Amino acid sequence: MRPQPDFIHEFVPGSSARTLLLLHGTGGNERDLIPLGREFDPKASLLSPRGKILENGMPRFFRRLAEGVFDLEDVKQRTQELADFVVSAAAHYKIDIKKVVAVGYSNGANIAASILLLRPEILSAAILFRAMVPLVPETTPNLNSKRIWIGAGAHDPIIPASNTQELVEMLRSSGADVTIRFFQSGHQLTSGDVDLAREWLTKSVD
Ligand code: MLT
Repeated sequence: MRPQPDFIHEFVPGSSARTLLLLHGTGGNERDLIPLGREFDPKASLLSPRGKILENGMPRFFRRLAEGVFDLEDVKQRTQELADFVVSAAAHYKIDIKKVVAVGYSNGANIAASILLLRPEILSAAILFRAMVPLVPETTPNLNSKRIWIGAGAHDPIIPASNTQELVEMLRSSGADVTIRFFQSGHQLTSGDVDLAREWLTKSVD
């Protein structure tokens, strides 16, 4: 039986205990971040689900009402559903649930941030490229042992720097160890993001 709740996904087994949970951006799919995941960690297992929401045919992880304006009930529900998928995929593929590191881009970074805020037990660390505040949780999560790296674009037309800073404050005030880097770029991922995030993952995350 497939992991339930079901998501279309790719799973690439690795040779270490770590699993990278790869979360694509709007219009992406489960194959998009596999090469990046391999580049980040040649030994990790890779778990890469496809978002179930379709916006004009483009997969996403939760609904939005407009660019940067989220359907908060849907964000909460989809966050729980994705977290439940990770738990059941961990049992199915014999993944160590204590060593799951999210790597998300844009909409994928936002659902990863939402998992950190609502289901922090699912992730030990996270790399968030072009993330913003997905929602404000009703109770403060305990993010004491979590390490988080955020790559932001100084000229991002979708995400104001103040919004990313707000996310950083929210995560830090919940106890997370957050590293934030601003790049001279827009919403796109740059080679600078990839190089610094990989170095951070190698040096800073068990
Ligand atoms: C989102 O909807 O999660 C953000 O606006 C980023 C995007 O996917 O465009």
